[in-house]
Amino acid sequence: MILADRLCFSCFFDNPVFVPAPNIDTIVSLAKRRGFVFPSSEVYGGLGSAWDYGPLGVELCNNVKQAWWRWLVYERDDIEGIDSSIILNRLVWKYSGHEATFNDWLIDCRKCKGRFRADKLVDNKCPSCGASDWTEARPFNTMLQTKLGAVADDDPTALAYLRPETAQGIFINFLNVQTTMRRKLPFGIAQVGKSFRNEVTPGNFILRTREFEQMEMEYFVSPTAEHSKLVDYWVEQYLEWFGSLGINRENLDLYEVPQGELAHYSKRTVDIMYKYFPEREKPWEELMGIAWRTDFDLGIHSKNKLDAEGKRINPDSTEDLSYFDEPTKQRFYPHVIEPAAGVNRTVLAVLMEAYSEKTNDKGETRVILKLSPQLAPIKAAILPLAKNKPEIVGMAKAIKRSLQPVLRAVYDDTGGIGKLYARQDEIGTPFCITVDHQSLEDEAVTVRDRDTWEQERIKVTDLAEHLQKRLKPYPVPESI
Ligand code: GAP
Repeated sequence: MILADRLCFSCFFDNPVFVPAPNIDTIVSLAKRRGFVFPSSEVYGGLGSAWDYGPLGVELCNNVKQAWWRWLVYERDDIEGIDSSIILNRLVWKYSGHEATFNDWLIDCRKCKGRFRADKLVDNKCPSCGASDWTEARPFNTMLQTKLGAVADDDPTALAYLRPETAQGIFINFLNVQTTMRRKLPFGIAQVGKSFRNEVTPGNFILRTREFEQMEMEYFVSPTAEHSKLVDYWVEQYLEWFGSLGINRENLDLYEVPQGELAHYSKRTVDIMYKYFPEREKPWEELMGIAWRTDFDLGIHSKNKLDAEGKRINPDSTEDLSYFDEPTKQRFYPHVIEPAAGVNRTVLAVLMEAYSEKTNDKGETRVILKLSPQLAPIKAAILPLAKNKPEIVGMAKAIKRSLQPVLRAVYDDTGGIGKLYARQDEIGTPFCITVDHQSLEDEAVTVRDRDTWEQERIKVTDLAEHLQKRLKPYPVPESI
């Protein structure tokens, strides 16, 4: 019986042709069909560019964040983690420069009244109607506002912002972390969490949304360190890390941000770009950025920092975020190298990379999501070959329960074995475990590999160890 199923399934793909994801729309469709990502608020007609992560999507996001945290905070010796508030004192955003400069430049089309970002126009043409009759560009601050407390609508003191980057929560905690953890330079502080931007033109699925998640790390170094080399170092580290998530180097590119486009705090920024639009002439979009933020942030939040005329640049701060360097007996504001990545953009890149279609000679197509096993939402699916045999079902459920504390496993008996395999392939489950009649006698099961479709007979007592060994490890970078 099992052999027949196996033969039937493999002959379906005797000469398969593999095709990668041709565009983001293919992923949108898979994501909705299989429970990764749903359009938000659909029962009320949706909310432009907001997305909800379903049962598989939340696992995938968590696995990306955990892989990142393990890589930086656990496996290196020079990085601590924190989790700061989303809503900070408004003065943080005044002094960080976000209140004055976190703007998009808006223009309106006089013909169709459409509103767009001036820097995103192609050939100066309106994307809606094709006209080139524009109003003057004007700044639009993209921080999302809210009000704190039971206050009058027009009380300006109640104004607060949802953070547009997680980084500021790290800077204002620099001394707390440095002193409590007895850290010496160089060291980093990592944080993962939600950020918010009132994007003028959100879109392209989870690529640009108003609510998103960032994985940011601020790496504090001496003012005399080789900052540009450190930017290159972190670029290399992240290229390697993305590789360990299964992202092909060919689909990543580097963009040296020109002087005129740098953020107000940056002396150098390199963006790592991913090929999100393989079907377009310009396929690249930013996946993350690595910036040399100088000593701007620690200085600007410090009470003792003076400007060129000897005046305090921050009369509101009650702290000085400088650092005393024992070896040189010098006090200074550390410089910062910041790798800032998006969780959602990483998830999208990982999905696009993992997507593959296998088509056989007859033109029949199957989708296989070749996710790196560490990222797969479900590591093992336990499938009974006969769902009307209580002994087989009982054994399959017991195996599922025994694996669950070690790895994420599910039990599924809602179809024939071919259909169940196909469903697990499409959601990226690395291993299918089949329990058959023979299992009742030899206490062994068949383990099927998602990528090769090879099958092995494994004793139930060895199963957890066998699977854990095959859930691939990933490279560990060396500390500086
Ligand atoms: N602290 C620096 C900073 O926030 P950024 O380049 O503006 O730098 C870092 O953002 C990353 O956050 C981006 O490379 C991207 O991955 C992600 N990101 C930014 N805006 C986003 C949005 N509207 N939707 C989804 N991800 C976004």
